[in-house]
Order: sequence, then C-alpha cells, then structure tokens
Amino acid sequence: MLTIKQRIAEKIVENVKKLNADSALEAADVAAMLEYPPDTNMGDLAFPCFKLSKILRRSPVQIAQALIDGLEDEAVGYAEAVNGYLNIRIDNAYLCKNVLPEILEKKEAYGAPSIGNGKMVVLDYSSPNVAKPFHIGHLGTTVIGHSLRKLHEFAGYRCYGINYLGDWGTQFGKLIVAYRKWGSREAVEKGGIDKLVELYVRINNAIKGDPENGMPADQELADESRAEFHKLEMGDEENLELWTWFVAISLEEYNKTYKQLGITFDSYKGESFYTDKMPAQVQKLRDMNLLKIDDGASIVDLSEYNMPPCLILKRDGSTLYPTRDIAAAVYRKENYHFDKAIYVTSAQQCLHYAQWFKVVELMGYDWYDQLVHVPYGTVSLNGAKLATRTGNVVLLKDLFSLAIEKVKGIMEEKNPDLADKDEVAEAVGVGAIVFYYLTNNRIKDINFNLEDALSFDGNTGPYVQYTYARTCSVLEKVKGETLGDGGKITCDEEAALLKIMSQYEERVLTAIRDYEPSVITRFILDLSVAFNKFDHECRIVNEPDTRVRLTRIKLTEATKHVLGSAFSLICLKKTDRV
Ligand code: ARG
Repeated sequence: MLTIKQRIAEKIVENVKKLNADSALEAADVAAMLEYPPDTNMGDLAFPCFKLSKILRRSPVQIAQALIDGLEDEAVGYAEAVNGYLNIRIDNAYLCKNVLPEILEKKEAYGAPSIGNGKMVVLDYSSPNVAKPFHIGHLGTTVIGHSLRKLHEFAGYRCYGINYLGDWGTQFGKLIVAYRKWGSREAVEKGGIDKLVELYVRINNAIKGDPENGMPADQELADESRAEFHKLEMGDEENLELWTWFVAISLEEYNKTYKQLGITFDSYKGESFYTDKMPAQVQKLRDMNLLKIDDGASIVDLSEYNMPPCLILKRDGSTLYPTRDIAAAVYRKENYHFDKAIYVTSAQQCLHYAQWFKVVELMGYDWYDQLVHVPYGTVSLNGAKLATRTGNVVLLKDLFSLAIEKVKGIMEEKNPDLADKDEVAEAVGVGAIVFYYLTNNRIKDINFNLEDALSFDGNTGPYVQYTYARTCSVLEKVKGETLGDGGKITCDEEAALLKIMSQYEERVLTAIRDYEPSVITRFILDLSVAFNKFDHECRIVNEPDTRVRLTRIKLTEATKHVLGSAFSLICLKKTDRV
C-alpha cells in the first residue's frame, strides 16, 4: 500500500505537470523533498517550494499557492501556503479508516517494505576470535549485524547470517602449548572459556616477558607455539582434537550470550574453513600479475588508489587476514549467490575492507560493488567496575550479568510480586544495554553509562519495554470484546499516535538505506512517547462513549503490534509485564 507521503507526492507531481507539462519530476523525488516539520502546529508534512523554482520559473510563494489548488485528496485534511512552503495536514478520518485497519489486519507485518523480494543478502557479523575474550567491543558487530539482518528480512530479502569465527591462526599454537604446560582437562571443563582465555593471556605474557621487572621475553615458548600451530595445520590428530574441543567450548559460551539476545546464525563457518580455498585465489592473483614481492612478502600494490599495499602472503608463505577474506567472499558468492554481502566490524578495520574490496575488483570479479562494509565506533564503559582476570577488557557476558542483577534489584523494589522475575529481568537488563547502544548513530564512539541505560524514566530500553507491557495490560482488561469496524479520532493524542505509526515503513527503509538501526530505536522512542501521552490524556478502558472507547482500544492494539515489530528489528525482547 502507498504510504501517505507517497500518495501526497503523487498528487503534487500531477499538479506540477499542470504547471509545466515538460517536467520530469517524479513522485519519488517529491517524496524525498517532503519534510516532517518539527513543530506539528505547522502541519504534518511540509513541501519546500523553492526546490521547484527553477523548473517552474516562479517564486516559491507563487508555487505554494498554485499547488494548493488541485491537492484535494482523501488523505489531505487541509493544505496551506506559508512563506513558500506548502503545509499539509493529514486527514484524521483517513488515518482512522485506512491506516488503523491496515495495522490491525497485518499485525507485526505492518510496515514491511517489499524492496528485497527475490534478493539475497549475506551478513557477516559477531565473528569473535576463539579463545580471545568476547568483550564489549563485540557488542556492536553482534547487535548491529543482527538488526541489519532482521531489517533486510522484514523488507523481503532472503538472508544468510554468518558467524565467521576467528577459529584459526597462531593463537591456537599458543593455546595448545599453554594448555599442556599449565592446564588440564578437568580445569578447562570446569572453567570453560574463562580458563582458555586465562591460559591464552598467561602464555602471551610469558612470551612478551616483562623486561622492566626482570622477566625476559620467552622466545622458546614462541617457537614452540608456532611449531604446534604448524602441526595443527598439517593435520596432527592430537592437536586437531584439542582445537575442536577449544572451539566447541567457546561456541557453547557464545551461544549463551546469543540466546540472551535472541540471535541465531545460519553458518558458523569460521576462518579455518577457508584454508584450502585460498591457494586458488593466490594463484589467480599471481596469474593476473597482481602480486608483487616486497621484502619476501607477496603484496598487491594499491598506491594508485592511495592505500597501503594489501598483504597476501607473509615471507614464510603463510596467508593473512585479507587473503582469507578474499577467498571467503568468492566462496560465498559461488555458494550463496548474494546480491549484497554485508560485513559489520569496528571502524578500525575500515582500511582492511577498502583494501581487499579493491583487490577483488582488480581480480575482475564483477560483484565487487556488492560488498558493503558497515563500520561502527568504539565502546567503552563508564562507572562500573568490571575488570577481568584478562586485564582491562570488559566481557560482554559480565556486562549483561551486571545489568540483569541491577534490574532485579529495581524490580524487587518496584514490583516484588512479579511472576517469572528472572526471565523478565534478563529481557529488561539485556534489552537496556542493547537499546542504549543502538540509540546512537553507529559510527559514534560511545561511553556506556549503566545508570542511564537502566533508568526506567529516560529514553531507555526499560521505558519502551514498559510501554509495550502497558499496551498488553490494557488489552488484557478488554480481552474477548469484539471491536467491530470503524472508529473515530476525537483528540490530538490519538491522531499523533496514528501518524507516527503511519511512518513506520519509511523509517524502516531509511534504516536499511543507511545501515542504521538507530533509526528504528528512535522510532520506538517516538512511538512510546506518543502512546504514553495518549494513555495519560485519554481514558481507554473506562471511556463511556462506546465508539471512542473501541477506537482507543484499537489504537492500543495497533501500538502493540508496531512496537512489537520494531523491537524484533533491534534484538529487543518483548515482555508483557515489567
Ligand atoms: N574475527 C574478527 C575480529 O574479531 C572479525 C571478523 C570480521 N569478518 C571478516 N570477514 N573479516 O576482529
């Protein structure tokens, strides 16, 4: 169905054509020019007419005046020309007759665009490095990645989510040596990933040494680690068995976090999977004369594109991070036939992606422009003591546990009789972190303030989850009643609520276009604020006028569907009570 904006844009185009038959203006152009005025007293939509001065050869004031005539439409309440702007008020009866029933019919599918039909998107996200800490820096790739997946699915794309585990590399040689030296099966079984990380940190420290404090670097351990990794690469059975075990333990741990977030992947093919897929790509680079030898290493020179060279093989012939990414991209194209491949990582990896995307282009793969890197800023934590045995990184699971504990404390005070307290506390605690994080533009660096994130009063996860729960409890009170057709809007709060909901599809499209889940987070806030205002100002269950009462119940139900749908787009769980 056409959104209201599109509908009005088409009308405007018709009118423009009347003024200038040669105009090539299209509805999509006009839709992009239509603004939502910050002050809704001015109208619900505003069209800045100066943008058409050139093609219509008239002043904006004249254009605004001319466009008003012929703007009659069901969706337009009235239109006004003010200072070269065409201000439009959307008709309440139209909203009530069209938007409201559509939401009630489609429920959580309302607002789904269909731009993705038939297209395939592969998303590479989360992708932690096994045995290294899964820390708060991974929050971004995990929740932005998953939101982008949900957004694309919502828009009709087929999606394939890949957790490209960092499950290969010299760190496994180190881990094997450390395990044999200081670990044991029992200790690792008991301590899980924490024990693995501890062993990994210990051997790294030993290799580095602490010369200032009289501890020399341990070259022997470094050599031993390299040798063990080499054995692993050669298929040594014992080492392979250890490696498989280490990966399994790590995955088990990650899955706990993914479960808290409601995230699943279609594939966990990690770096190790691509080992035998690299030689063909290296050979292709060589055959195409793209490889240069530089101090023994093989590189692709990118100076022409103002970038440092892309490293393909080290001096000893071993492969590197970009080599693997190139081989993985080719594999994914051949096997999943993507129309778009999205990679979500911290902005520190921007150069890496720019480089290997360029190499893919130089290799003649015509799908190079379907590769998209989505970077995000750094995450730090303020005010909470969460230092770990592993130094000064904060583990994601510890951050979640802390948030859950705090929410439990708040709930104990606010609502001690709540059923399923643990489940609700988990949804709200984890949700608070996710929501706080996704409120910011992804590229901005953010400093977590846990108190702010967990507040029930601010623009937070708990606030919007409370709003959702409130719609559920209102509806619970009127369960089983038949609402019938029709309805009427009788106050501004009702109209404002419905207008925001009518913008949902547009916001989804913006979020997809900009790879920006925060667009949805802000939409959720706008909708929550509008609902709470409505709930505060208008009687719902106790309204004596039956028609008004039924309309308000419908509005509450519609809010529940749209909020619920938007929550699922940003990994926020729904709770019917808080
Ligand atoms: N494992 C990497 C890291 O933690 C991220 C991998 C991102 N994906 C990729 N295809 N390079 O930094």
